[in-house]
Amino acid sequence: MNIMKFENDNDFARTGSGLIVSLLQSNPKAVLGLATGSSPLGVYAELIEMYRKKLVSFAKATTFNLDEYVGLPDGHSQSYRSFMNQHLFDHINIDISNTYVPNGNAENLQQECVSYEKLLEDLGPVDLQLLGLGSNGHIGFNEPDISLTSKTHVVDLLEETRQANARFFNSIDEVPKQAITMGIGSIMKAKQIVLLVRGEEKAEAMYRTVEGPITTECPASLLQSHPNVVVLVDKGAGKWLK
Ligand code: F6R
Repeated sequence: MNIMKFENDNDFARTGSGLIVSLLQSNPKAVLGLATGSSPLGVYAELIEMYRKKLVSFAKATTFNLDEYVGLPDGHSQSYRSFMNQHLFDHINIDISNTYVPNGNAENLQQECVSYEKLLEDLGPVDLQLLGLGSNGHIGFNEPDISLTSKTHVVDLLEETRQANARFFNSIDEVPKQAITMGIGSIMKAKQIVLLVRGEEKAEAMYRTVEGPITTECPASLLQSHPNVVVLVDKGAGKWLK
């Protein structure tokens, strides 16, 4: 793992967006794996800025999002599809039909997972996968457990994850109890993984991810076995790292 520590939010965001911009400059048809939540927000804002300055084009790119809540009505402000439109897709020249987010309202959720995994196989591999880190060590919505699922699947969200995400909703009762997530195997197939970690509340999970044992009880620790992982970490989240 290549770990880069940042004192400053702008440098953090510029480094993350810089990796994506360089990739698209050398391969305009790159396949990007994207995350939602607060961790990638600065990176997305920088990407929009770089696009406005005509330094990058997304015209031929394809994107796959990691996950989506189950059961939020279409267009709900907190669905991950809405998040991506609002924070990135609406502001760049990507062809929206090349942006894939699991459909959390599919009539048959199991079939949706199989189709999403097939799309990943057909259009992939993902060239660069962005990830955030849950305070409990989750990546995507792969929650700590005695075993982990490899492929895209439906997951019951842990109470701690619902609590952590309640800040985006009016109340905890509104936070969905399930999500569709790419599995650990789907994530590990990416050629490069860029893990974005910010904030002191992530310090323990960050430590376990890079310095702890590889264990399904900290799903992100499995990234230690991936050959090309870049970790961008701020001062707070990196405070326990050597
Ligand atoms: C989001 C995702 C989650 C988040 C993680 C951190 O698509 O897959 O794993 O990356 O929960 O969330 P934030 O960045 O909001 O702290």
